[in-house]
Amino acid sequence: MEQTLVSLSSDHRNYSKLLAVLKNDIDNLEHSVNPDFIRLYDIMNYMTNYPDVSHHPVEEIIFKALLAKSPDSADLVNALVEEHKELARLGAALKEKLNHVISGSIVSKDAIIEAANNYYQYLTNHINSEEGNIFPIIENTFSKDEWLQINNQIDDTEDPLFGDVVQEQFTDLYKRISLSKD
Ligand SMILES: [Fe+2]
Ligand SMILES: [Fe+2]
Repeated sequence: MEQTLVSLSSDHRNYSKLLAVLKNDIDNLEHSVNPDFIRLYDIMNYMTNYPDVSHHPVEEIIFKALLAKSPDSADLVNALVEEHKELARLGAALKEKLNHVISGSIVSKDAIIEAANNYYQYLTNHINSEEGNIFPIIENTFSKDEWLQINNQIDDTEDPLFGDVVQEQFTDLYKRISLSKD
């Protein structure tokens, strides 16, 4: 499989790991067990900084090339691009609520649970749709030369959490996720 697609799929697996932490914390909160809100904030800080800024734009470069070759995929592509916008909105809203919590403001527990569950469900469905519907089409559409052209348009952004070097602002989250695996 083309390396660009392999790395997008690997991103999806990483996001799913973070989503599992998020979901577990929110289930606890629903049962009145307070989660580690700083870790949750860090997760959403990552999600609004890397996926929204790098992963989705890379996908959209590929989607654009797909549309040019296979106009039949227009409905699917348009839906996924709209979902990217909605994900950025839902992610920012959740991050803002978590920011209020960790800076000591009073935020309704139900509002956090609702925002987190919305985000969890939306991103889970989005990843499933990409993996199940559009990646298989992409995989069978482009020649080696076409991939070269696509890859030329892509800026390589190092993942600040799962990449070779963990960026300063995410080192705490990296440790907290590693610890939580025990
Ligand atoms: Fe996407
Ligand atoms: Fe994706």
